[in-house]
Formats: sequence, structure tokens, C-alpha cells
Amino acid sequence: MENYMKLEIAAIGENESFARSAVAAFALALNPSLSELSDVKTAVSEAVTNCIVHAYEGEDAQKSILIECRIEKRTVGGALHIAITDYGKGIQDVEQALAPFFTTLEDEERSGMGFTIMQTFMTEFSVASEPGKGTKIVMMKEIAA
Ligand SMILES: Nc1ncnc2c1ncn2[C@@H]1O[C@H](COP(=O)(O)OP(=O)(O)OP(=O)(O)O)[C@@H](O)[C@H]1O
Ligand SMILES: [Mg+2]
Repeated sequence: MENYMKLEIAAIGENESFARSAVAAFALALNPSLSELSDVKTAVSEAVTNCIVHAYEGEDAQKSILIECRIEKRTVGGALHIAITDYGKGIQDVEQALAPFFTTLEDEERSGMGFTIMQTFMTEFSVASEPGKGTKIVMMKEIAA
């Protein structure tokens, strides 16, 4: 059976490094190179940070992030599948949000590069979002043998 894990965490700053390390530890089963592992950590960090800084405004009863990972072993190497979901405000215009340097938090020193980094560092990347419902990032990293 293929291995998987699901992790639900509070959308607060101190969980960003925890989420990044937890996914990296899970990914070790695929024997990733340091560079592959670093790409995965960076992408997870950007996705989780987005949930923390953008998704939840004010005092939502539940500010949670769901992280789902699945390991796909192939004859040679494999792939790490990651989904990161929040139940926050969602994104009105996904195409615009994906554009390099687009940010809705200019005054808070955001550079608008998070999505661009995820796209660059991962083999596959997609965003599904519904305003008022939340956002789900689905990513895949191919791990060479
Ligand atoms: N989980 C989310 N919920 C709601 N809006 C989001 C979410 N993730 C991203 N966004 C929107 O998409 C925009 C672009 O995100 P991106 O990560 O590329 O840049 P940023 O977070 O603004 O800046 P940076 O990631 O460089 O610090 C954000 O400014 C925000 O408006
Ligand atoms: Mg960001």
C-alpha cells in the first residue's frame, strides 16, 4: 500500500516551521536528494504561510490548515503528492494571484512571489479556491532514484 499522512494544524505562525519539517520527515521515505528536499520544504513553507497570513481574517472560530501527503513509489524513484487546504476567505481571482509580484499585502513587506516559488520548485502545481470557502493547493514533486 502507498503511504500517506494527514496533518491538521492551527493557522498560526509557529506552525510554519513545524509543517515544513513534518512534510520533509515524511518525504524521507523516498530518499530525496538535499536539493529535492529543500524544494519541497520551501514550497510547503510558502503554502502554509499563505494560509496563515491571507486566509483567515479576524477571530475565526477555527483557523485550521489541512496538510495531506502521499508517497508514490515508482520502478525508478517516485513522487511526493501534497495538498494544503484552508477554510478561509478564498481567492477572488486565482489567475491574478498567481502572477509574479502580485500581492494584496504590499504594506506588510510581502513580495508576491509565494505562488511563483511553489510553481518553480515543484513538478506540478495547481490552485482551487472558492471565495468564502477556502483554498486548496495541490502539488507534486518527482523524486529521482
Ligand atoms: N490561502 C490563501 N487564502 C487567501 N488568499 C490567498 C491565499 N494564498 C494566496 N492568497 C492571495 O494570493 C496573493 C499572492 O500570493 P503569493 O504567495 O504569491 O504572494 P504573497 O503571499 O502576497 O507574498 P509572499 O508570498 O512573497 O510573501 C496574496 O497576496 C493573497 O492575496
Ligand atoms: Mg505568499
